[in-house]
Amino acid sequence: RLSGPVSFSAAAPSNIALSKYWGKRDAGLNLPLNSSLSISLAEWGTTTRVEPAGDGTDAVWLNGERLAPETGFTRKVVAFADRFRRDQMLPLHVVTENTIPTAAGLASSASGFAALTRALAGSFGLDLTEDTLSMLARFGSGSATRSLWHGFARWERGTREDGTDSFARPLPEVWPEFRIAIVRVDTGPKSQSSRDGMGHTVATSPLFAGWPAQAEADCAAIEAAIKARDFIRLGELTEANALGMHATMIAARPALAYLKPESWQVLDRLWAARRDGLEAYATMDAGPNVKLIFLEDSTPRIAELFPDAAIVEPFGAAAKLSGQPRP
Ligand code: PMV
Repeated sequence: RLSGPVSFSAAAPSNIALSKYWGKRDAGLNLPLNSSLSISLAEWGTTTRVEPAGDGTDAVWLNGERLAPETGFTRKVVAFADRFRRDQMLPLHVVTENTIPTAAGLASSASGFAALTRALAGSFGLDLTEDTLSMLARFGSGSATRSLWHGFARWERGTREDGTDSFARPLPEVWPEFRIAIVRVDTGPKSQSSRDGMGHTVATSPLFAGWPAQAEADCAAIEAAIKARDFIRLGELTEANALGMHATMIAARPALAYLKPESWQVLDRLWAARRDGLEAYATMDAGPNVKLIFLEDSTPRIAELFPDAAIVEPFGAAAKLSGQPRP
């Protein structure tokens, strides 16, 4: 039986996959077809407090606003809490704040479920390993497995049918010069959730068959490039992996096109600058915004080319101060 709950707060950073997760082998257990590798976004993330419900009723607050019980967000949070408290009557208040600027157009499900996992475990006094926390976060969203730490993290697909070997671990590498720029194209809601988009791609795209093996190879090569501190190799692999994922979606029937004309304009500008020697590379997720990776030296050039981009330092002071484990 669980102890508590007591009031407990936890924070988690959002993350961007350098080698993408796209496609499930088990939708119920949220098991991926391929491993993936990400970099966390330092101060951009979620802080969540779980506390006993004084009024005896489950309730959820998002960015200062108490949500109605029937909203999709509340239902997801309550269903996730049920994985911890099971059939015990332990009503909770969950107070969650996203520190990702809402205008950034980035999903907050990764940091949201990672923070909620740590907060629930802390509230119930559960002494769980980091591997188990990552596995639990997986039930909220796949990308949440990688959001429990700062820095690089790799989600191993695993081979067991019950999913007990499918979780992420942080990589020990620290790369202080590493930078990420978020180039906003459109901050409106997604055309289709990643869950639905993946399912549709796996079911209908004739190009999908080649994806899992290529993604697995990219993931291993990206990890090796990080260990070798080979930024150009890392950038080339990251960009090719993202475009390969989008190619599988565009080939789905009907096509799933998350990228907008403006996304391609950003890529054109980037590629032109690269021909002039800029070492920066792009990656895109289930939406039209473009994320650039580069090293500190390239910051002035990036700021000139993309003046509205937000620049994140994944190994900067904010990542050190937020109190989460980091490599
Ligand atoms: O786990 P989800 O539902 O957040 O899906 C993540 C899908 C991508 O962002 C496109 C890729 C990834 O690995 O984060």
